[in-house]
Formats: sequence, C-alpha cells, structure tokens
Amino acid sequence: MKRHSTMYKVLTCLMIFALAFSVNLAGSKNSAEAKVRTPIYKNPDLPVGLRVIDLMHQMTLDEKIGQMVQPERTSVTQDDIRNYGIGSVLSGGGSVPQQNTPQGWADMVDNFQKGAMTSRLGIPIIYGVDAVHGHNNVKDAVILPHNIGLGAANDPALMKKIGSATAEEVRATGISYTFAPCLCAPQNIRWGRTYEGYSEDPKLVGKLGTAVVKGLQGNKNSKGFLKGDKVVTSIKHFVGDGLTKNGQDQGNVTEYSDKEIQKFIKPYQKAIKAGARTVMVTYSSINGLKTHGDRHMITDVLKRDLGFTGFVISDYNGPQQIVPGDFRASMKQSINAGIDMFMIPNDWKQFLTVTKDLVQKKEVSMDRIDDAVYRILRVKFENGLFEEPYADRELVAKGVGTQEHREIAREAVRKSQVLLKNKNKVLPLKKNGQRIFVAGKKADNMGYQTGGWTISWQGGSPNWGGAPEADLTKGTTIYDGIKNAAGKNTKVDYSADGSGAAGHDVAVVVIGEPPYAEMFGDRTDLGLLQEDIDLLNKVKASGVPMVVLLQSGRPMIVTDQVKDWDAFVASWLPGTEGDGVADVLFGKYQFTGKLSYTWPRNMTQINTHDKSNPLYPIGYGLTTKGK
Ligand code: GLC
Repeated sequence: MKRHSTMYKVLTCLMIFALAFSVNLAGSKNSAEAKVRTPIYKNPDLPVGLRVIDLMHQMTLDEKIGQMVQPERTSVTQDDIRNYGIGSVLSGGGSVPQQNTPQGWADMVDNFQKGAMTSRLGIPIIYGVDAVHGHNNVKDAVILPHNIGLGAANDPALMKKIGSATAEEVRATGISYTFAPCLCAPQNIRWGRTYEGYSEDPKLVGKLGTAVVKGLQGNKNSKGFLKGDKVVTSIKHFVGDGLTKNGQDQGNVTEYSDKEIQKFIKPYQKAIKAGARTVMVTYSSINGLKTHGDRHMITDVLKRDLGFTGFVISDYNGPQQIVPGDFRASMKQSINAGIDMFMIPNDWKQFLTVTKDLVQKKEVSMDRIDDAVYRILRVKFENGLFEEPYADRELVAKGVGTQEHREIAREAVRKSQVLLKNKNKVLPLKKNGQRIFVAGKKADNMGYQTGGWTISWQGGSPNWGGAPEADLTKGTTIYDGIKNAAGKNTKVDYSADGSGAAGHDVAVVVIGEPPYAEMFGDRTDLGLLQEDIDLLNKVKASGVPMVVLLQSGRPMIVTDQVKDWDAFVASWLPGTEGDGVADVLFGKYQFTGKLSYTWPRNMTQINTHDKSNPLYPIGYGLTTKGK
C-alpha cells in the first residue's frame, strides 16, 4: 500500500513532533506530572491519526494480528479477548444472550469488553450484530419492513429516521456496530436474499442506502460522528452478491461485463461518501474468482479508486471458500487481497497462528498488516470506543420497542404497501357498516409477518427452522390492525383456513412465503404455495369479493390466480407494525407504494431476464382513488 505507507511515515513524524512538544511541556512542569502524562493514544483531544500511530508503535505483531479477527460470541471468552488482544466479536443471526433483553445484551457485551480493557494496551473491542430491519435479534424490539418494502416506500427522509431509530435500539444493547445496510440490487428474484435489497435498480439502492447510513452513523463531519446513540455501519456485500447466475446464493457472476458491474459499485461510492466506515465482502465470485480473494476489487477499486478509508470485513467464514480445504492459502490470498477484519467465528486461533506464520515467512507484508490495523483502530477511535467502551446505561434503560420507534415503523409499513389491483373500488374497506372476513393463518402470525433475520437467523421461531410462531415477538398482526381500525358497527371475523366466508361483504385473504434467510430462500419456482391456493379456492367458492395480500420476500407468480381477485396488495414482509397495513386498507392513508422490482408473469421471464412484458412493471402502483 504505497500511498498508505507514505502517509504512515508522515503521521509518524507528526507524532514524534507532538510527542517532543508534549514531553517538553511536561518537562517544564514538575516531573511527577510528567510521569502521569496520558499516553498520546489515550488523549481524545489529539487527532485520530496521531493516536493510531502512537498506539501502533507500541503494539507487538501478535497484538496487531489479534485486532484483525472477529470470533463469534459462543467461541470466545473474556480471558481470550484479554490474552489474544482480540479486536472484535460478533453475534451471528439469532446468537443471543441467555436473557434476550437490552440489559442481558449490554451485560454480555460489557463482559467481553472488560477483557479488552484489561489487556496490556487496553484496546476496546467493537461488537457487531445484524440489525438489518431494526435490532431484529432482540425480543420485542421494533422490526421494520424488510428492505424490499422500504424500496417500494422510496422515502429517503423516512430512511434516515429508520436508521436513527435502529441505531438507538442497537446502542440500547451496548453494541456500536451493525452489519447493514445491504446495498445489493438483486437481478434474479429466485435469490433467497432478494428481500434484503431495496430494489433491482442500483440508483434507488444508492439513494436509500445512503440515507439509512446517515441515520445510523450520524453526520460525517460533526464532532458527534459515531458517538452517543449512533453506530458504525457495514455496507454489504461488496460487490455483485445479487448478480449471480440463477440468483444462486454465494454463486458466480458470469453474465455482466466489468462496465455493467460498475453500475452496482455506484451505491457503495455514494454510501462511502456519506461516511460508511466498514464494507463487508460478498461470498460470491466474479467469473470464478471469489471476491474474498480479489485484490483488484478490494484494494484497487474499493480502497484506491473509491477512496475507502474505513476497514473491510470478510463475511462469516468467507475467506475459507477461496481455496477450499486449505486454510493457510485462503488466509494468505484474502489478507493480500486487502481484507482487514476476519469474521472467523470458530477457527480464530488458527487465523492468529497462520497469519503470524505468513508474516514471518514474508508471504504477507508488514505493510499489509499495518494497513489493516491502522484502518481498524481509526474506526474504533472515531466511534469513541476508547472513551466510552461500555454500554451507556441510560440508553439501555430506554430499552427497545419504544412507541416513538413503532410509529416510525408504522409509517414505513403503510408506505411500503403496493396496490396492484382494485376492481370496483373494493378498497378502501369501510370503517363502519361492513362485514369483513379475514382469512389465512398468515394474517395473524408475527413469525410470517417479520420473515427471516428475526429473533433467529431463519426467522419465524426462536429455534432454527421451527414453525412460524404467532407470538414470536411484540407487535400487531395484520388481523390485529384490521380489528383496531374497524369502527364499532363493522364486524370482523377470522378463519385460519378460510371457512365461513359466505355472508360477509368482503374477504381479506393473506397468503405468502414462510420465513427464510440466505441460501434457504433460493427457489427454482416462485408459484404460490399449495396451502395458499387451497385457501384462495375456499374463499373464492363463497362468492365474497376478495382482497388478497401477498406477504412475501419478493414478487411471486400469480398470473393464473390474480384474475379472480378483486383487489391485490403486495405487503412484502411488513415487520411488527400490522396497523400500518390497516391504515391503507381502510383509507386512513392513501396507498403510495410503487414496485421497486419488476413483477414477472412466469418463471421463463425470470430465467431469461426478460423484463419486456411483465405482469406489473417496476414503478407500478395504484392509489386508492384509482391511478
Ligand atoms: C451471514 C451473511 C451476512 C451477515 C453475516 C453475520 O452469512 O452473509 O450478511 O452479516 O453472516 O451474521
């Protein structure tokens, strides 16, 4: 890193000058005072660059390499952090403390932090978590709509509010780092992570992702940058995670030229300009080269061309995929590619030994290690971690799931709903004097409504792969919302299997996908589930007009069924605030959502990237007063 090592030398000279100056100053005072002079790196009034250099000068090679690894919370102890000088710890999806409350989280994180603060140099850890639609691991936190719904809402000011609210809930658990936002622009909705993308359009992704970074991290140049109730972001997954063939998760990008891939780098450029301080690398490959080992993409494009000065973090065991079965070769290639922080949940001790061996055998340069450590320490200093390493107990006391945050989420829900059909103005529903029939188990189940990355990695249940639980976490279901919105002489009946619709004025039928995350959501067929087709047929047989809500992580193939529906709403994965859906169903607010993805007619259109004649085009969406 030529450019960096020059800077490193300049900063070293500056630091020596500052050191000489401060010693001289201290010399003129009485010697006792000089003895207790704070080390430069612990002086918050000095420039971050100087503090980093001063600290690095005192670090051993082991301590430097220790900063570069991020074990999972279940495979590291407070003593390990102290003895190995570990730089960071993460909670993987659903990896929660015994007591899944703000207090429980803050106590757990502070316990790890104590190990760091009592290490030889007292370098704090930075603790990371996936707060990707609110602080979604934490019971009763506010769960926002997944990004596909926020793309339909397309409201940057709202995104900034969402970022701020999420940052407050993350800091309420003593954590200051989230692996979000995802800046993917999925091009094939067979991908199980489609819902993590705001849109297929990278321009819209850049606009909304930048807004949420500003909300999460605060203003880039203010003194308050990353202090107090703000968090460090990790824009992800750099780059091309949503471009793989057939939408295969962690797959290979083969259908896009370098020039076309530039379009998908643009959102990162915007978010970095807005101050994003870490970037997570994608598992996927470009033309067979794993991006985790791609020096051109990480060092030349991201660090040099985009001028990224934060740190680059690997994905969960991502580096090991470079040379399967050869840990040393994989680490060598990923370190030399320019990755700085290694998310190695379990084999972190092996990372420490292998990396030291690579440096001693000059297969990894000391300059490369210094570049990584410099970047990691800079982000920690900026984040105020050296001054405030422990949880802010006032924020912890404020807790998660506040009413203020629920209102923000409710606004996001109603703005995310997309009205795709409204025959004979069956919507809005009437607040008074109507008999409403709500059908489908998914209408009254928080597990379905929040989707993946909620309480557990796969969502739906605290136990991986468990059946979606109705009361997974605090919130209002769509059915709750309809009951809350209906006036006193409007009758609302409910049936999980759709029986009993006859005699009602209108039926609201909720269908959709079960929760899933990452590769578990990859599909070859996006037709409706048989259980939903059966539900629809049962209600259709009653002759009652049908308002169908599709609760899914992506467009699904509804071409054969939609002609039987009187109204059709894409609800996406709305999260905990079901009232927001009722807000537009009853016309308290107009529908304003617009599709941020093309809605295909059939699987052939998806598999051939044919967007020429979709069922609904990107940007489509009705209002309740018609178009
Ligand atoms: C996962 C995901 C990434 C997440 C990380 C930590 O595999 O790819 O988005 O941030 O691991 O949970």
